[in-house]
Amino acid sequence: MLEFGNSSLETNALIEIAPSILSADFARLGDHVHAVAAGGATLLHVDVMDGHFVPNITIGPPVVASLRKATDLPLDVHLMIENPEQYIPAFADAGADWISVHQEACVHLHRTLQMIRGLNRNAGVVINPATPVQTLEDVLDMVDHVLVMSVNPGFGGQKFIPMALDKVRKLAAMRAERRSNFRIEIDGGVTAENIADVVRAGVEIVVAGNGVYANGNPSDNVRRLLKLAQEATLQRV
Ligand code: DX5
Ligand code: ZN
Repeated sequence: MLEFGNSSLETNALIEIAPSILSADFARLGDHVHAVAAGGATLLHVDVMDGHFVPNITIGPPVVASLRKATDLPLDVHLMIENPEQYIPAFADAGADWISVHQEACVHLHRTLQMIRGLNRNAGVVINPATPVQTLEDVLDMVDHVLVMSVNPGFGGQKFIPMALDKVRKLAAMRAERRSNFRIEIDGGVTAENIADVVRAGVEIVVAGNGVYANGNPSDNVRRLLKLAQEATLQRV
């Protein structure tokens, strides 16, 4: 983990790369997890999709339980499912350390976040590209992290939506104004080409799927992304 910077908008300047296993080879998942840990990943992003909230289906609690046995990395479980409150206890039991729910999927968002906190897990809220950051105003003091989607959720390997950077800047400003200390995470389309822009906008946790697993060596890819992120924190204004 690397710590940098002291700008007034940064309350949490710890930068982490969270490889998304969605782009890994599921038949070699253990190896692919160890590879990113060796490259300097300090968090593992786990995408859970139900075929309803998003048009794709991925994994459930049994795979999280297997990952828990295979690595000490904290598991950052991103729930892209309807009625997440029905499944949160199962993911917590399986070993999820961080659990994030979509604002758009939670009719009683406050209650759902309370549930995650009650299970002593880091609670996160996620917004889709079409959801304004202002919709989070009343829950910002009860989350550990806010996850800004920079693609429409459902698939790895999509193109980064630049508007997400404005959301990150707005969230960083809201955080400074309220003296909150949630961390800002981004997810979707982040690569070596745009990671510097993402970090300069104020992101502390960078999810990367294809940018880590699609080409080349996953360890080297994480190392390279971390280095670029580190350099970019020095350029924050
Ligand atoms: C998209 C998922 C992402 C995805 C990111 O719905 O939430 O975590 O795996 O993959 P890339 O980095 O390839 O866009
Ligand atoms: Zn995700």
